[in-house]
Amino acid sequence: MENTYEIRYGRAVRIGVVVAFTIAAATGAFFRFGAAYGISAGLDLTNVRHAHTHLMHFAWVTPALFLLINVRLSQWTKRPAPGLSVLSTVAALVLGLVSYLPFLFVGYAPLDLGFASMPPSVVIAGLNMLAWYGYVVGYLQHTKGIDRPLFVSLFDAALLFMVLASLGAWGISIIVSLRLEGILWPTAMTHLFLDYFSEGWLLFGVLGLAAYGIPIPENKQKIAAAALWMLIAGTAVSFLLGMPKSLVSAPAQVLARIGGSMMAVGLVAMLLILWRSATGAWRVPFSFLVIKVVGLFIVSVTPLIWWSELFGERILYIHANLLGFVSLGIFAAFATVWPQSDTGARLWMNRAVILVVLSLVPLTSFWPSALRGPWMIYAVAWVALGPVIAGLYFLTSVRRAVPAAKRTPPGPFEDAV
Ligand code: HEM
Repeated sequence: MENTYEIRYGRAVRIGVVVAFTIAAATGAFFRFGAAYGISAGLDLTNVRHAHTHLMHFAWVTPALFLLINVRLSQWTKRPAPGLSVLSTVAALVLGLVSYLPFLFVGYAPLDLGFASMPPSVVIAGLNMLAWYGYVVGYLQHTKGIDRPLFVSLFDAALLFMVLASLGAWGISIIVSLRLEGILWPTAMTHLFLDYFSEGWLLFGVLGLAAYGIPIPENKQKIAAAALWMLIAGTAVSFLLGMPKSLVSAPAQVLARIGGSMMAVGLVAMLLILWRSATGAWRVPFSFLVIKVVGLFIVSVTPLIWWSELFGERILYIHANLLGFVSLGIFAAFATVWPQSDTGARLWMNRAVILVVLSLVPLTSFWPSALRGPWMIYAVAWVALGPVIAGLYFLTSVRRAVPAAKRTPPGPFEDAV
């Protein structure tokens, strides 16, 4: 039998990350009910939002991608994932889960421990990023000297942006501890972190999973390479679009718009390359990617629109991207790697996510005012329960998956029981 620790680890991490997704989705739903019905259970809704976003980023998408990258690289190299990659994946998941309660109850506020005063949430998030670095070292060991088809190059770019994003997070801590004046640098560092994380690490990582095993014909190799470089260059500067317009000089605004447009063009090329060969499970995430591309292109080329000045549209875009493309992409990758666990829960997840994203449309400025009303905030709250229920269903279906003993010999990372 293949390495037992890898088999157990694959199943345990998969369950752990979906537990995190379900709790984070329930936290998002709680925020919506809080806003609609005035329920807060003594919690500050700003902290509820922080707990939601941190759990999604640190305990759902990141360890899930770590796991799936390990699996795909093991299948490609025929070598098990290095112990450091495995350990870092588990550490990232555990630390991500542990930071949830501090974020929920105290947010970024420091706790007085008698001998020192510090924000526990930030300390745990810092430790979490050390696990990311551990993962990168393991990844470099795993990929040393191997061929680099498109999916490995996408993973390389993803991890590069993850490291760059973490530098933004350290930058914020340094600026705060040095008590530097002004808002330009803290804002720039915040966007460096958030945007390199979601537009770099998550986007490239999930595209890499989608590209695994897809042969790129000789005549499309150059297009794929050009699309990858356009995406990398565009992502490097487009974070400026998220900063308040008053903090971005006119030439930097032009650069940001060029970067956003390059990203959009690079994504269209990637979609054209991957769409036809992608299995059915990828069609829904790819459809959300199309929505993202359209949004990105409009924001980049329309002179009167500046990204950070839009609120409802931003929440819609963030969720079309992070929930529709990234999260459903991860569920699609689970279904491809572990088909025996793909028992219908993923289809319910797709439907629930489509409804959640649709429910955000009335919160945007392009929704006709004649159709607005208080119903919108109630609808958005009730619809938010869908992914929570689908997450619970997914967890029960992982448990019900066909026992490995009754199947053909397991490959790396398959279920042990
Ligand atoms: C599963 C269903 C989800 C629900 C019900 C949900 C709900 C919410 C809610 C209620 C907010 C606060 C909106 C506001 O301030 O008005 C929010 C913000 C946010 N969510 Fe989600 N969310 C979901 C999935 C996700 C996922 C999968 C991710 C990332 C992987 C994510 C990342 C974010 C981010 C980054 C923000 C902050 C946006 C901002 O203020 O700039 N969410 N979400």
